[in-house]
Amino acid sequence: MAYLIGVDIGTSGTKTVLFDEKGNTIASALKEYPMYQPKVGWAEQDPEDWWNATWTTIREVIDKSGVSAEDIKGVGLSGQMHGAVLLDKDDKVLRRSIIWCDQRSAKECDEITEIIGKERLIEITANPALTGFTASKVMWVKNNEPEIFEKVRKILLPKDYVRFRLTGEYATEVSDASGMQFMDIPRRTWSEEVVTKLGLEMSMLAKLYESPEVTGTITESVAQLTGLKVGTPVVGGAGDQAAGAVGNGIVKSGVVSSTIGTSGVVFAHSDTVSIDPKGRVHTFCHAVPGAWHIMGVTQGAGLSLKWFRDNFCMEEIRTAELMGIDPYVLMDQEADRVDVGSNGLIYLPYLMGERTPHLDPDARGVFFGLSAKHTKADMIRAILEGVVFSLRDCLDIIKEMGVEVKEVRASGGGGKSKIWRQMQADVFNSSITTINSSEGPALGVAILAGVGAGIYESVPQACEAVIQVKTVQKANCELNKRYEKFYAIYRQLYNSLKNDFKALAKIM
Ligand code: XUL
Repeated sequence: MAYLIGVDIGTSGTKTVLFDEKGNTIASALKEYPMYQPKVGWAEQDPEDWWNATWTTIREVIDKSGVSAEDIKGVGLSGQMHGAVLLDKDDKVLRRSIIWCDQRSAKECDEITEIIGKERLIEITANPALTGFTASKVMWVKNNEPEIFEKVRKILLPKDYVRFRLTGEYATEVSDASGMQFMDIPRRTWSEEVVTKLGLEMSMLAKLYESPEVTGTITESVAQLTGLKVGTPVVGGAGDQAAGAVGNGIVKSGVVSSTIGTSGVVFAHSDTVSIDPKGRVHTFCHAVPGAWHIMGVTQGAGLSLKWFRDNFCMEEIRTAELMGIDPYVLMDQEADRVDVGSNGLIYLPYLMGERTPHLDPDARGVFFGLSAKHTKADMIRAILEGVVFSLRDCLDIIKEMGVEVKEVRASGGGGKSKIWRQMQADVFNSSITTINSSEGPALGVAILAGVGAGIYESVPQACEAVIQVKTVQKANCELNKRYEKFYAIYRQLYNSLKNDFKALAKIM
């Protein structure tokens, strides 16, 4: 039997999973690390933490499973997208990585738009300039830390820095590189025009591959650290969203996924390049060679619930510890006792600004309609509902673009919650399914590694062989009608508050 390893370098931690060639999980390991927030709206991580988490978890799954390194035929890397890892001429990391949810680069987005031209930028990169994307983060360093910028020789994405440590190669692949805003998305190549006009060098970018291609092999020193065999191939892998999509079988039209991780994402496969002229959803290259994908991203999905848990749910955390369960299970039970609409409480999940549909780094979280009657349970339910409303915003734009939606597959940590899935079914008015594996991105990149190693013929063929639908939850029409009334108010709230968010940002 052949085995494959998928490593998912996420925001809260790195998860490494060893699979057999049928997609069964043989062993998994997780290592968490901190996210630093030196100012409101800023977010940074230490690339050394990603590296340490990667090699230790690879070692752990190999040791735990007893699988021989000979039989591990490939490694795939999935990563949180957009973060900028800046290396000097000696490959030393120059500063902590400014990561995807950091919102400091609004001024640089205006600068990029000005330099390239709004329409030309969308024509080439398929997206408007966004604070979330790597280009504006690099420009922020250029403008604010010139002494660091002048030393930059390479700009790598989080998982590609880990790849560099594993293989010694500067390499990336199209799905993650799409989110740097340095690529010509329709042509699947770097855009020299964008890179040079922004005052950067082409040599700063890594070699670009398709996601299942082999980008390098495990070095001798890494083999000693991890227990992998020298020469084990490392394939391109994918940005976490495209990786999760492959791991959920979103590799053909008709099935979309709705993922609640730290961020929330609605993801659709597309055989052609299809761009939202208003830039509210992203169009990127898919990890399926020759295909693209469209995704709507809400910044604070699981992040909203985690924020509430960590600040207001000490009791749930303590009780869950005594019961040996996850605090989210208790929070779900509290939310389940509250009626649809959270007794008139509506939550806007804009804790880290917003992308889809508002593209506004200054947007902030809101509890609207709060009264003395409300309890913590209402607030938990309002958060769950608010996150689903923001995913509905994403889904509606994707449908508006003519994408066919026959089935929505739930995934991510939030997809494990039955009540959160039912809310999605009721708010989307669509069946919500789950599949036989909950490993999402790690499975996705293990599949890509299997294609690269020649175990599977193609990405769609591998998904066909490995992925089956396991549960189906149907929409309740009555509840859908009730949710619609709250959703209509939710939609108006951002417009009512837009100027107030700006005014608040000015005095911060
Ligand atoms: C996608 C995005 C997030 C991060 C972190 O555009 O920013 O999904 O990759 O998960």
